[in-house]
Amino acid sequence: MIDQTKYVIKEHLNRIFKDEEMTVEEPKKGHADLAIPLFSLAKSERVSPIVIFERIREVIESIESVDSVVFQNGFLNIFLERKKNSFEVITSILEQGQSYGDDTVGNGKTVVIDYSSPNIAKSFSVGHLRSTMIGNALKHIYRKLGYTVVGINHLGDWGTQFGKMIVAYHKWGDDQAINANPIATLQALYVRFHEEAERHLELEDQARHALLKLEQGDPEHLRLWQWFKDESLKEFMSMYDMLGVSFDSYDGESFYNDKMQAVVNSLDDMGLLSIDEGATIVNLGESVPPALIKRSDGGTLYITRDLAALLYRYRTYHFEKILYVVGNEQMLHFKQLKMVSDLMGYDFELDHINFGLVLIDGKKMSTRSGQFKRLEDVIEQAISLAKDAITQKNPDLNDKDEIASSVAIGAIIFNDLKNERHLDVDFNLDQMLRFEGQTGPYLQYSGVRINSMIKAHTIDPERLDSSVYQLDHYFDIVKLLDKFPETLYKA
Ligand code: ARG
Repeated sequence: MIDQTKYVIKEHLNRIFKDEEMTVEEPKKGHADLAIPLFSLAKSERVSPIVIFERIREVIESIESVDSVVFQNGFLNIFLERKKNSFEVITSILEQGQSYGDDTVGNGKTVVIDYSSPNIAKSFSVGHLRSTMIGNALKHIYRKLGYTVVGINHLGDWGTQFGKMIVAYHKWGDDQAINANPIATLQALYVRFHEEAERHLELEDQARHALLKLEQGDPEHLRLWQWFKDESLKEFMSMYDMLGVSFDSYDGESFYNDKMQAVVNSLDDMGLLSIDEGATIVNLGESVPPALIKRSDGGTLYITRDLAALLYRYRTYHFEKILYVVGNEQMLHFKQLKMVSDLMGYDFELDHINFGLVLIDGKKMSTRSGQFKRLEDVIEQAISLAKDAITQKNPDLNDKDEIASSVAIGAIIFNDLKNERHLDVDFNLDQMLRFEGQTGPYLQYSGVRINSMIKAHTIDPERLDSSVYQLDHYFDIVKLLDKFPETLYKA
């Protein structure tokens, strides 16, 4: 309704004013549905805005969806015809149902989204939650716009920490404890390794050696690694189930072990490599530090694996666009990744969808300070808070546990998505579980109310009392509903 009207207005204005650029605005609050600012044209023609107004009022008024126009403060304010427009919006929503807002812009195009990507044998933090929820929201949006979406969980399942983990396991490991509580136990081993390594410097050497054996494919080392990975994944999967998230691929960093040399070779063929103090690098100019491709001991790095992953994904999925949903702290890494892929001559779009930290009481979390929040604990705590609130408000409710869990998870997800993406967010369970204001529980509450109305009544737009649209708050809702497709597209 609004978009189409805007379009028609612009056509008229273009015809009348030829070269003059005229805009059509949507005033935020109340006083009109659309408005055309007349100042700048009035100024350049050296007339009063009212003269311009008189020149165009009739054409605008003659547009079918327009009810009336008014001159006010240098604007031509437009009021839309409410009855027929509302009828059209509501009928088309009822007809299209779930597919309302679907678009075809993405047809035939693929977008790859790399998100969540936690590290094996470490707990899934509320920081990884942000990536998970933002990535998942993007996935839904792109699907609705017609894109083929490939969701990839780039698991952190390779790197120096596994050498440490294996050494720690051999020294202090307990199979039963690992099986019973894999991530917490493995993480404790990792922390202990660091504590002991401060006094026993030889541990670091042992860890390097263990990593080397792992990389050379020693069966016992591989078995341990696989076991740690399987156990960690089990925990991650139960979290994803709770959050309603799934991926098309779980190929993590280790998947690229045998695909890195090929990348190094092609960088070499293109003459992009140079040697700097024994290390192999790609120079990225004055203002950006070089990308470190190989350490002086020949070891590969995070970015080497990301390059291998990027090229593999491009060959496999032929994407137009690849998105990495990762925190602000990896800004430089993705800048370098993009620069290297540019130098290699790729023309796909590569975007770092960055986001802010999760703060607890205004402070950054860290594993060492013990301030670290395991997502599972957080969810459990949220569920119990939600249950308290439900028991208070509605003691006789039947499925308290099930509802508490939906409310709690909804609250956490909503809190994550309502915030400005790139800013830090404060993680405050009491706030996010409130039943009023901009919270998940309030949204769910509204949803439930609306659903129960829809269930109890058949909606026949032909029989709606159209006088309700004359009331601003009803027509405002119609306008919001009408905006949904465009909002989706902008998002
Ligand atoms: N595992 C990394 C971390 O937890 C995030 C990986 C992001 N994805 C990527 N392709 N680099 O910090």
